[in-house]
Amino acid sequence: MNHIFHEHTTGFTTEPPHLYGRWRRDPLLRVTTGLRKTWFPFWAALERLHPLPADDGLLTLEIVGREVVAQDENVIALTFAATDRSVLPEWHPGAHLDLNLPSGRMRSYSLCGDPGDRRTYRIAVRRIPGGGGGSIEVHDTLSVGDTVTIRGPRNAFPVALPGFGSAAPRLRFIAAGIGITPILPMLAMADRFGVEWSMIYSGRSADSIPFIDELARYRDKVTVRTDDVDGLPSMDELVGPTTRRPHGETDLAIYCCGPVVMLEALRTHLVGRGDIELHYERFSPPPIVNGTEFEVVLNSTGERLTVPADQSVLTAIRAVRPDAPYSCQQGFCGACKMHSTAGEVDHRDGLLTEPEREAGYFLPCVSRCHSPELSVDA
Ligand code: FES
Repeated sequence: MNHIFHEHTTGFTTEPPHLYGRWRRDPLLRVTTGLRKTWFPFWAALERLHPLPADDGLLTLEIVGREVVAQDENVIALTFAATDRSVLPEWHPGAHLDLNLPSGRMRSYSLCGDPGDRRTYRIAVRRIPGGGGGSIEVHDTLSVGDTVTIRGPRNAFPVALPGFGSAAPRLRFIAAGIGITPILPMLAMADRFGVEWSMIYSGRSADSIPFIDELARYRDKVTVRTDDVDGLPSMDELVGPTTRRPHGETDLAIYCCGPVVMLEALRTHLVGRGDIELHYERFSPPPIVNGTEFEVVLNSTGERLTVPADQSVLTAIRAVRPDAPYSCQQGFCGACKMHSTAGEVDHRDGLLTEPEREAGYFLPCVSRCHSPELSVDA
């Protein structure tokens, strides 16, 4: 089941009632439904020969490569191609795709291949035993030759290069562990355009760091440091040398992907440094800011759940509905989208459109409630 796109599916199984209520079934629809049933085998055969373009960015791709990319074997890279090996939609560094897993889970993964290669996409997935099961499913069930459905690519972490849209004269990339994935194509682009850049890459140990071999070509532009040998990096080490310029001009643009704790420390460290841009992507939920406690009512059963000030609606719902869909937990993938029927949603995402919000939709991974109670269709 594709739980994300169900509202877009058009299940032509029965005719709707007549629009004006005069007929139990609309006569025109009965005729067209009859014709469709008659011609269905023909159209199905035609569609197999000439597949229609994917609806709403949905693509069916084949896994054409699977390789272990960290020495501890906990990170694998999967390469996808169109089943007919045709050109794939374009993407830019920082983009991710939404992968629909056989179980119905959806997970978002950064693209970490070469944007110049228009026939394949590559992602990398770390096995997380205590997570929500998505990474385990990828590791244990996806093999070369399997087909998967994806949506995207979409970009929530775009990069601008010096001289090509960025006011900064140089770039600093900071990656921790699997946070290397959106950064890898950024490095390739920065290198290709000849802009000034450097990178620090940290991780628990050399064994746990993915893509170490691919970084070798950048030589001393990349500093690798591991906690077991070097200890935790200081914020000054992460940011690297900076220069306060005479009129406060931008000195540096940082692109960072890593755990929340590192990003929060970095944000705090850079307070007052208006000359340093910080662009980042987390791979875990952001901390809840200004949260207050409220209640959620599940319309299907009438259950009442308390959402504490420091917990998301999604977390509260997943405690009683473990199958509730989710992926990014940061309000950008849309996998967790829900419908509310009462209460005043405090929207905290950047994804939903105003008409969607007005229709009652919200993202429970980040959004909260202004009123004491929120009723949701769950
Ligand atoms: S899980 Fe991605 S938007 Fe909520």
